[in-house]
Amino acid sequence: MEAKEEVYTETFVLFGKVVAIYLVVSQGFKLIRGIRNHILSGWFQTDLKRYGRWAVVTGASDGIGKSYARELAKRGHDVVLISRTLEKLKNVASEIEQKYGRKTKIMQADFTRGSEMYQSIEDGLKGMEIGILVNNVGMTVCDPFERFLDIPNINKAVTDTINCNILSVLQMTRIVLPQMVQRNKGLIINLSSEAGNRPYPLLNVYSATKAFVDFFSRGLHTEYQSKGITVQCVMPLYVSTAMTSHIKTDFFVKSAGDFAREALNTVGYTNRTSGCLAHSLQSYAIDLLLPKSVFSMKIVTDLIENAMTKNKNKDK
Ligand SMILES: NC(=O)c1ccc[n+]([C@@H]2O[C@H](COP(=O)([O-])OP(=O)(O)OC[C@H]3O[C@@H](n4cnc5c(N)ncnc54)[C@H](OP(=O)(O)O)[C@@H]3O)[C@@H](O)[C@H]2O)c1
Repeated sequence: MEAKEEVYTETFVLFGKVVAIYLVVSQGFKLIRGIRNHILSGWFQTDLKRYGRWAVVTGASDGIGKSYARELAKRGHDVVLISRTLEKLKNVASEIEQKYGRKTKIMQADFTRGSEMYQSIEDGLKGMEIGILVNNVGMTVCDPFERFLDIPNINKAVTDTINCNILSVLQMTRIVLPQMVQRNKGLIINLSSEAGNRPYPLLNVYSATKAFVDFFSRGLHTEYQSKGITVQCVMPLYVSTAMTSHIKTDFFVKSAGDFAREALNTVGYTNRTSGCLAHSLQSYAIDLLLPKSVFSMKIVTDLIENAMTKNKNKDK
């Protein structure tokens, strides 16, 4: 009997040791990867110029897209800037030309309009050596958060969101990828979101579109890496832009400029990233402390909804 108990005890102790070693080793690897992706990447930056002369950025007149455009110009690229507002595009273009001495081309386009608009973008990019595509343009469905059926003007809202957040990524990739494959090099950066990491109730449609971007990026990278193409998915948390009502920056809320600089440093180091050290730490903490099931709990949705309603009533 005693011998049997001893065997059980020894088995449990051995199991405990194996689990502890596994946890230490796996977390250790994560730490090493974090240091490599977010600290070493800043010291030893990948040479982005090798991808090709022009970078195309969608949603480039403001926020994260504008900062990507500036940062790419600073690193030696000519930049194609695409978004809706001509005046804002002209300002960004002239700033880039004056400050970094790079060429720019602006294209006015509204990505909510669906497939009809891509022919003119395709024509406009003909003959240009596109080394980098940043699929940045994106929109939230409504503000503040709502249950699906409470989304104002739902028919238009969901079509616009899918056109802007999903179709734009697919169509821009379709336009640019063939010449990248022909040259055997190219970089496609797709802006997803931490909201794409798991379903976020009340932000559900936006969250689902960002999950699409994540899945598409990962699959596309696997399909085309042997052809010299890198596809990177960037999944930020809070960045201070118009989309987040220019929320005050701090260690965790990044300015768009700091975010784009850090995120571009990670190219060549990781193909799926929160983009910067502060956001990677937050994402790690969310994964560790909040099991995915928490986000599916009715009570959590109710609590958020109540908080939102109180805020709405306060603002009235
Ligand atoms: N900010 C964050 O905290 C955050 C977090 C996670 C993920 N993201 C993602 O990061 C990306 C950029 O976000 P952001 O915060 O920089 O957004 P933003 O400040 O709202 O800027 C959006 C940019 O896209 C353009 N744009 C918007 N709708 C457009 C449309 N229908 N057609 C063409 N251009 C359009 C805007 O310029 P015009 O108005 O002149 O067209 C602007 O240049 C998005 O994909 C977003 O989902 C942001």
